Amino acid sequence: MAEEKEMVNIYIMGKQYQVPYGITIMKAMEYAGYRFIRGCGCRGGFCGACATVFRKPGDFRIRVGLACQTTVEEGMYLTQIPFYPANKATYNLEELRPDLEAILKNYPETTRCLGCNACTKICPQELDVMYYIAAAQRGDIARCAEMSFDCLMCGLCASRCPAEIVQYNVAILARRLYGRHVAPRAEHLARRVEEIKNGKYDEEINRLTKLDIVELKKLYDARDIEP
Ligand code: SF4
Ligand code: SF4
Ligand code: FES
Repeated sequence: MAEEKEMVNIYIMGKQYQVPYGITIMKAMEYAGYRFIRGCGCRGGFCGACATVFRKPGDFRIRVGLACQTTVEEGMYLTQIPFYPANKATYNLEELRPDLEAILKNYPETTRCLGCNACTKICPQELDVMYYIAAAQRGDIARCAEMSFDCLMCGLCASRCPAEIVQYNVAILARRLYGRHVAPRAEHLARRVEEIKNGKYDEEINRLTKLDIVELKKLYDARDIEP
């Protein structure tokens, strides 16, 4: 009945709270008194900052979701994973080639994949994480880049990996290698950069920087938007 559904009980890090039915986990946490200084970014399902793990009553499964997109349910036990201490290689893209060597040099642990598929099962973006790692293992940079394109870098896959691979950092290396060395150059962009360097827009930029915020907002609202 509607009255019964007005509030639900949830457990945030084991502590019980009553929160309104139907709101997102993120709003429920704020309702319960939490203030986000980490673990919250876009509030729109894009930035991956709000990875959350939860269980439902009577269910052994660990479930995952983005706190800004997943709604609360009665009896939900949950916590956020706002940060995951990931292995992150430092590299110079200019010195790398788009091949297996680049993957192995920076993330040799990629070869340790056991094929357990835990990463794919937990991905809130429903990416085939195990297969994009398999592509990286083969040095198939284009395939890894393409398959991981919608990754939000939420960190959940790495939190489950028994081989201690940080899948999303392997994937972003593949996408960077692809962007730098494989994808066709955007000639129109190169032309525009050249025009900017040559001062074609200096006068316009100077004019804009002198406008106040109201005038800028008006201009922004009246801008041409490509269909
Ligand atoms: S691949 Fe990993 S980091 Fe990327 S969205 Fe899926 S679980 Fe999150
Ligand atoms: S969780 Fe780790 S070991 Fe398992 S399939 Fe994914 S990358 Fe491989
Ligand atoms: S706050 Fe950005 S995905 Fe949830």
